[in-house]
Amino acid sequence: MSDKVQVFDTTLRDGEQAAGTRLGSREKLTVAKQLARLKVDVIEAGYPSSSPEDFAAVELIAQEIEGPSICALSRAVPFDIEACGRAVKRARRPRIHTGIGVSDIHIMGKFRDEKYGTTLGEKKVTMIRMAVDAVKLARQYVNDVEFYAEDSGRSEPAYLYEMLEAVIDAGATVLNIPDTTGYAVPEQYGALIRGIKEKVRNIDRAIISVHCHNDLGLAVANSLAGILNGARQIEGTINGIGERAGNAAVEEVVMALRTRADYFGVHTDIETKEFSRTSKLVSDMLGMAVPANKAIVGGNAFSHSSGIHVDGFLKQRETYEIMRPEDVGFTASKVVLTARTGRAGLRDRLEKIGFTLTQEELDQTYQRFLLVADKKQEVFDEDLAAIVHDEIHVATDTYHLDYLHIYSGTSAIPTATVRLRVNGDSREGAAIGDGPVDAVCKAISAVTKSSAKLLRYEIRALTSGTEAMGEVTAHLEAEGRRVMGRGASTDVIEASAKAYVDGLNKLANLGVTTV
Ligand code: KIV
Ligand code: ZN
Repeated sequence: MSDKVQVFDTTLRDGEQAAGTRLGSREKLTVAKQLARLKVDVIEAGYPSSSPEDFAAVELIAQEIEGPSICALSRAVPFDIEACGRAVKRARRPRIHTGIGVSDIHIMGKFRDEKYGTTLGEKKVTMIRMAVDAVKLARQYVNDVEFYAEDSGRSEPAYLYEMLEAVIDAGATVLNIPDTTGYAVPEQYGALIRGIKEKVRNIDRAIISVHCHNDLGLAVANSLAGILNGARQIEGTINGIGERAGNAAVEEVVMALRTRADYFGVHTDIETKEFSRTSKLVSDMLGMAVPANKAIVGGNAFSHSSGIHVDGFLKQRETYEIMRPEDVGFTASKVVLTARTGRAGLRDRLEKIGFTLTQEELDQTYQRFLLVADKKQEVFDEDLAAIVHDEIHVATDTYHLDYLHIYSGTSAIPTATVRLRVNGDSREGAAIGDGPVDAVCKAISAVTKSSAKLLRYEIRALTSGTEAMGEVTAHLEAEGRRVMGRGASTDVIEASAKAYVDGLNKLANLGVTTV
């Protein structure tokens, strides 16, 4: 059996800290319940001494959540640690996470007061004493104490080892090695973890944890480098939210370990099918949208659109997919129809929505599909149905709209010019109207010499966005026969003209011709 890597989720602490939205206790509990379903090993629920609300949220989560350990954050000061102790008291598996700065920059910047020493050397001694005292105090409340050596990524390794050795002796069970500023690169961070494994005398008594920030876009890569070099806990957030550019995205690290188990040789106990749901919940709760191209949980993570990819994917999924969408909670892969989708992708989607076309019909539909796709980012199923209707079902009709021109505006009289093929003959006509749609209908009536009355006219957007296809239905009556014509286009005036012509064709099919 491969080694297990523990997953420590800090969405509710490091993640929420940066969201620009504070969650209330109840909202945090909802997220914590979902994290428990995801089967994370540790939930960092908050920073109890930071505010009464944070204290209440940690306390509530500690009380309600079974399964994961519930962890609370503190600085290496008694006030914070005592608050953590009280907040996690009711947890089945409580953990306190305490720590202090370890890089020269942090020590000189945050502990500049002379009470910590006057030189860097003196301050470094003080830091180790405070760290040890903090761990010892935390151990009076809980058996599971995680120590963070803040800004390890920019620290001097020999000093870091010294501090880690001291806190293990004081009772720390987990050592968090944060790359607080996202400064490290994978080889270097991996070497730092390897150094800790090799040089810290009592390291066999603690688990090494990686906590990487994403300032250079390397949080996930650094976390994985840490695992390769002996870390057995990863820390991160759902969707990678967090301070500045965020933390390592839990879903990315876990799926990398799982998909490339052949390479990493470790496993987690995460219920990966819960990723999509968890991502959506966190995004909704914190009002932080997930980019479409985000790995694992983005809307396009399992979408294929270019002709070559779609063709290969439809022949054999593995040609362009290394994970199954179902494994992260999506129902299926998606073929997004765009101007780059080839005929194979179009045929497949048409069959899925119920249209089996001949090669000739497919070619014809494809040409029209390209025209629509050029105007829209994505062509939806509703658009396709309208295209097939226009191109295939209407093709054999009596009237066919060839050309349409509209003149309209705030101070212009709406005028429409149309050219129609009527049983193969080309005819042109023009009319003015109360508005552009009225002008078009009148122009078509003039050309077809139709006496049909427009009883009802409806327009609706088939899909969303200003470039959406509009569908028009026109209810016509002539010689006691009533029909409904349909037309669709990204241009609603054109859709109106098509609907009117479609209605006239249906009347013609019923024997009401005017030609
Ligand atoms: O990034 C960091 O150093 C942290 C610590 C408080 C664990 O979030
Ligand atoms: Zn952090």
